Amino acid sequence: MTTRSKLPPGPPGYFLVGSFPLGARDPLKLLTRWASQYGDIFYYRAFTTHVYFLNSPDAIESVLVTNSRDFIKGRGLQVNKRLFGNGLLTSEGDFWLRQRRLCQPAFHRDCLRAFSPTMVAYAERMLEHWRDGEVRDIQEELTRLTLQIVAKTLLGVEMGELVQEVSRSVRPIMQFNTRGRILMPLVRYFPTPLNIRYRLAVRRLEEIVTRIMDKRRANEAAENDLLFVLLQARDERGHSMTDTQLRDEVMTLLLAGHETTALALCWTFYLLALHPEVENRLLKEIDEALEGRLPEFADLAQLKYAENVIRESMRLYPPAYAMARVALKDCEIAGYRVPRGASVVMSQWIMHRDPRFFERPEEFDPGRWTEEFMKRLPNFAYFPFGGGPRVCIGASFAMEEAMLLLTMILRKFRLRLCSEEKVEPLAALTLRPAPGLKMKLQRREQALQHSRSAQAAP
Ligand code: HEM
Repeated sequence: MTTRSKLPPGPPGYFLVGSFPLGARDPLKLLTRWASQYGDIFYYRAFTTHVYFLNSPDAIESVLVTNSRDFIKGRGLQVNKRLFGNGLLTSEGDFWLRQRRLCQPAFHRDCLRAFSPTMVAYAERMLEHWRDGEVRDIQEELTRLTLQIVAKTLLGVEMGELVQEVSRSVRPIMQFNTRGRILMPLVRYFPTPLNIRYRLAVRRLEEIVTRIMDKRRANEAAENDLLFVLLQARDERGHSMTDTQLRDEVMTLLLAGHETTALALCWTFYLLALHPEVENRLLKEIDEALEGRLPEFADLAQLKYAENVIRESMRLYPPAYAMARVALKDCEIAGYRVPRGASVVMSQWIMHRDPRFFERPEEFDPGRWTEEFMKRLPNFAYFPFGGGPRVCIGASFAMEEAMLLLTMILRKFRLRLCSEEKVEPLAALTLRPAPGLKMKLQRREQALQHSRSAQAAP
């Protein structure tokens, strides 16, 4: 293919400022419109940043896999360097590779199997407090639950009262990452109330991570989990990790390892409440597979429909809705020259709703995920966990956890929406239900009676 020297098509933009979709009221809608208007690749300038937006699986694969060495993580994550430091999500090069190899064994199948009783036990503990007819903020409940699970399984600590403090700190961090702050440096550095709240929240999280590390160092009886491996690791010269590096890895695992899974589950419960026919089929699968007992790791292979429900929910509401890279050198993508220093953006939100790959793309249909369909689907038409060498290290952990927690909750409860209003997604660092997600709990036996009496009604 010949490389075109012209820029790809794209919105015209304003003098000096350029185009600024992340500052729009509804950035996802605007970017989707541009993708359908301009095709597989479009270009815009946001102030001094040149953005190449990719909307084809091949182009995305070329950046994430084939030529991954020519790119580093994008500005969105760099903005959060204060938070993640040089942890696994943000580090680069040989240093990243060494840390990735160190962490990888903690996500092997045998470890995942060993984590499942802990996931089930924490879910059981949460459900002990749930009562029929109550309204609960499901996002908050699930975020607390997944936080406790990641802390216990990977870091070997009981979060206890720290859970509330972490949830309280994560909120301003997510607010900071909305509406244009990612690309607008001036807005980021002014001491606005939002920026001050962000800095205080990061500081609070740092204190919590230090407390976790102290707690863990004091607990010699704890098992050989990932934090143990990180504490024991030595480099070629026999040096252990510095406290700062440990802090960065623990902060990264703690944050990357809970919020996204909680959101995947939130959106799943939202979609199930809107689609009772899907929920009924799922309940049937769960009831038949478990016959009333608690789920185990070995059950996951049988719960095929549950897996497809989560897959489909992450298609429509991918918790990581976009990813970015910066080109380290001039390169060619989709026939266009992309200069060194340019930003390359790929969006799960847009690709997952592309009618070229998904029929009736706006419809929630877990049944579409047949073996045949998956074989036909091009790589990177669906990529909720990213791909290539930087693919999510916790992808299997997340799927296991999402399936076990979904099953645990649905054994006992159906969750109902409190209002008929559509829940709009908010594109922050992750894709969140904008106003949170309050749902009404219906205990299963009661739910059954409700639906029987509704059927009996004239
Ligand atoms: C549904 C849940 C999850 C989703 C949708 C998700 C999504 C992603 C995505 C898209 C990336 C790639 C980012 C990029 O390349 O720019 C990523 C990376 C990462 N994720 Fe996840 N994630 C989930 C759960 C988890 C869990 C449970 C953990 C840890 C227990 C985790 C830890 C990480 C880490 C450490 C990275 C960086 C990996 C590297 O660069 O080597 N994630 N995740």
